[in-house]
Amino acid sequence: MKIAVLPGDGIGPEIMAQAVRVIKALESDGSKFEMEEGPVGGAGYDAAGDPLPAGTLDICRKADAVLFGAVGGPQYDTLPRAKRPEQGLLKLRKELGLFANLRPAVLYPELAEASALRPEVVAGLDIMILRELTGDIYFGQPRGRRQTDSGEREGFDTMKYAESEIRRIARVGFEIALKRGRKLCSVDKANVLDTSILWREVVSEVAKEYPQVTLTHMYVDNAAMQLVRAPKQFDVIVTGNMFGDILSDQLAGLVGGLGMAPGANIGPDAAIFEAVHGSAPDIAGKGIANPLALLLAVGLMLEHIDQPDLANRLRTAIDQVLRKDGVRTPDLDGKASTSDFTQSIIRRLGQLETGRAVRA
Ligand code: IPM
Ligand code: MG
Repeated sequence: MKIAVLPGDGIGPEIMAQAVRVIKALESDGSKFEMEEGPVGGAGYDAAGDPLPAGTLDICRKADAVLFGAVGGPQYDTLPRAKRPEQGLLKLRKELGLFANLRPAVLYPELAEASALRPEVVAGLDIMILRELTGDIYFGQPRGRRQTDSGEREGFDTMKYAESEIRRIARVGFEIALKRGRKLCSVDKANVLDTSILWREVVSEVAKEYPQVTLTHMYVDNAAMQLVRAPKQFDVIVTGNMFGDILSDQLAGLVGGLGMAPGANIGPDAAIFEAVHGSAPDIAGKGIANPLALLLAVGLMLEHIDQPDLANRLRTAIDQVLRKDGVRTPDLDGKASTSDFTQSIIRRLGQLETGRAVRA
């Protein structure tokens, strides 16, 4: 198995080092992972003047899966848009055709107090948010700046979706719902936006292929409110690129913060697994970043590359560390360093026998 390793910026390299340690620990059962590293984001700009250097894209194309840390930093904030670290990520998504972004939000009961909401509102929360990732206002043309007739500067972007784009993400949504609670909530702004009216129409058409799934529609402003009022009403949420960006951060806040939120970006023949959080320049280099989001992303990756036993082992070890050992990084009010936290997971992994993982 070939894994492309893209640490990126800020805390990216620190948490990626933990992911690599864990993957090496998982090799003890005879599996072999070949890891190749490439610079991306600000690191790509520093190394090659490009947030997505050609060499890095090449490593990704040849890999079975890509692990992505985080990008961005204040020193890059003044670069022109095309050179900014985020462009590395956006280009990677577009170049590899990663149209489906899965961001699961599961609340560990022991971490209910880390949620911004009352424990009884969030206990047992288990939501999958599916975000379309290669369309919408993120990529729509035309976009840019111009001068109005009165000589004012004006910025503009284009929100748009073709029906084929909506249909394929809707199908993924229904397929995921089938494997879970069979409830799909499509989020849009169809009371205002033409893009959303079409979105709703096409999702409803696809629903006819999935009579076993209950489809509901919700406006995005209401969805934001429902997520804090009664989040357990949701099973799977499917939405466009921009609404999904916003709601997935909100959802992460409900389950203990972005430090615990993994993401999978999937296309027809490539997949990137990432921590949803950013590069956290304020704590970079201090050795206190929570590596959990990326370690959970490693779990998603292992499942994707047909290593369900290893994925299970890793998840069990993480469960045990959180539930039984009570080891936490400072973002979750704990005292463990980034490296100590990983060490606890590796210790638990060592105690688990291959293929005999049981949920803690
Ligand atoms: C995310 C991030 C990215 C996005 C940024 C870094 C471009 O916020 O993955 O959610 O907006 O998609
Ligand atoms: Mg985001």
